[in-house]
Amino acid sequence: MSNKSIFPLYIVHCLLACMDTLPETLVLGILSRLDDSADVARCRAAWKIFNAVSPGLQSINLQWPLSSYIESMSRVSNASSSSQMSSPLKTIFLSFLSNLVAVESVRIGVKNLPRDLSHAGIEVKAKDLHLTDGDFIMEWLPRVSGSLKSLSISDFWAQSCHRRSNVLSLVSAYCHNLAELEVKNAWLSVENLNQMLMVTSLTLDCIRLDDKELIQLNKSFPNLQVLNLIDVRGLKLPTIHLLHLKTCHWTITDAPPFVTVIAPNLITLTIEGKKPAAVHVDAPLLTHFHLALPHADSLLVEKFENLKTLCIEASFLYPLLFSFRFTKTVENLTLDSQGLTKGPFERFKFSLENLFKIFPNMTSLCFRSRAWSEFEVRGMFGVGMQELRTFCGYLKIVDLSLTLSLVACVLDQCYGLVDVSLLIHQNVDSYVLKGFMCTCMMRWPKLNWRWGTWEEGKEDCWISDEDLMQMSSYMKPSFDI
Ligand SMILES: *[C@@H]1O[C@H](CO)[C@@H](O)[C@H](O)[C@H]1NC(C)=O
Ligand SMILES: *[C@@H]1O[C@H](CO)[C@@H](O)[C@H](O)[C@H]1NC(C)=O
Ligand SMILES: *[C@@H]1O[C@H](CO)[C@@H](O)[C@H](O)[C@H]1NC(C)=O
Ligand SMILES: *[C@@H]1O[C@H](CO)[C@@H](O)[C@H](O)[C@H]1NC(C)=O
Repeated sequence: MSNKSIFPLYIVHCLLACMDTLPETLVLGILSRLDDSADVARCRAAWKIFNAVSPGLQSINLQWPLSSYIESMSRVSNASSSSQMSSPLKTIFLSFLSNLVAVESVRIGVKNLPRDLSHAGIEVKAKDLHLTDGDFIMEWLPRVSGSLKSLSISDFWAQSCHRRSNVLSLVSAYCHNLAELEVKNAWLSVENLNQMLMVTSLTLDCIRLDDKELIQLNKSFPNLQVLNLIDVRGLKLPTIHLLHLKTCHWTITDAPPFVTVIAPNLITLTIEGKKPAAVHVDAPLLTHFHLALPHADSLLVEKFENLKTLCIEASFLYPLLFSFRFTKTVENLTLDSQGLTKGPFERFKFSLENLFKIFPNMTSLCFRSRAWSEFEVRGMFGVGMQELRTFCGYLKIVDLSLTLSLVACVLDQCYGLVDVSLLIHQNVDSYVLKGFMCTCMMRWPKLNWRWGTWEEGKEDCWISDEDLMQMSSYMKPSFDI
């Protein structure tokens, strides 16, 4: 029995088990077995069974693995007829959707390679994977729009980047009940947009957007509560000005010289970027703020009444921190540096005293590994730092006496500390690690210690209490305390 002939049974099996959402594994299971039009026919037969049981399905999630497309592509091109090149994705999607009665959620996408990977052998003129194509959208959207609450389209960049799509305009014309919209990897026009009053969540990811100042976005989505702009290009002087926004994540890739966020009800804001930009934030209720920008020294923040968590990653931390000097409410502070604080920049170093003057209410402090390079070991005078309860430090190298003096500067002066976590870089030799741990725990025996290791791009790895007990039974301090 071939692999293919088993899948109708497999489908029925899965559908009975899970009527409400189409499991992604099932879809992938089907799609990975399809590579030519004969398979589409076979698949149609499978859809018949699908269709008998599926009208009740309210959501469809079809993610096309690009690798199978590339494979079938090279097979076809070896057969020397490029006109046959097609992917059955659209056909499958349409025939499946045609049987559903009240669809609330549609997710369709191509699992893209990274954008800048050369798409060798990929037909960029074809439209078979161009999912934000207006004609394709019109083939199905009007029929399901009445019930649609959530829509996600992840286009295929190699085909979509040459063609400006009017998908936003079509969605705004047809989907009056839509609450969540996500579009990835496309070039979007903002012409002829109606207001989308019901949409509360919008994600644009890897998008070329023809809305330099975000004026149309502001007008068309007045009730957004969640906005994610990830790698949205084409912006010049963008202003996010949304009255009901609560959560915003903005990853800036090209470098507009000035970005503005005005959001009177915003609670959580993340701004990340690779290039310098001046940033202006006017969000009095902001509670959690994560800022990661090089040279964000031109940060302009209006007074925050309620900022509790602040996480900053930038070059020259101290001048940046100084712009928060009117924000006394911060309780949790996390710092990381992107710069090299050497030579003339030495004067930008910050000390604990600086920090506590700016953030007198701080109870939790975390230094990511590069923050230490801008941290200056200095005694504090007259500033109350007994409020600090929690300290967390990421260490890159362990030079025993130097590292110990940095850590000691914090632990000796913040005498209210209770919980201390130190994470040591994975590369540090385990013998050095154990010696350092032992030295610390003997020198500050009253603290609640938590130890772990970290590595760039990976999740932190904590050492369990059991392992710690075991280790400490044979650990020796690396030198006399
Ligand atoms: C296509 O043809 C080339 C050479 O003619 C061969 O090396 C390659 O393996 C073929 N690819 C497929 C998928 O058959
Ligand atoms: C954004 O829209 C709001 C109303 O929803 C309006 O008050 C405000 O002036 C607009 N801002 C910009 C910059 O267009
Ligand atoms: C500082 O913290 C205390 C206790 O948590 C709180 O009562 C006070 O309002 C805070 N001060 C500021 C300026 O947030
Ligand atoms: C602040 O940090 C402490 C300790 O890391 C954590 O328990 C607490 O939930 C944080 N508070 C906020 C508002 O994030």
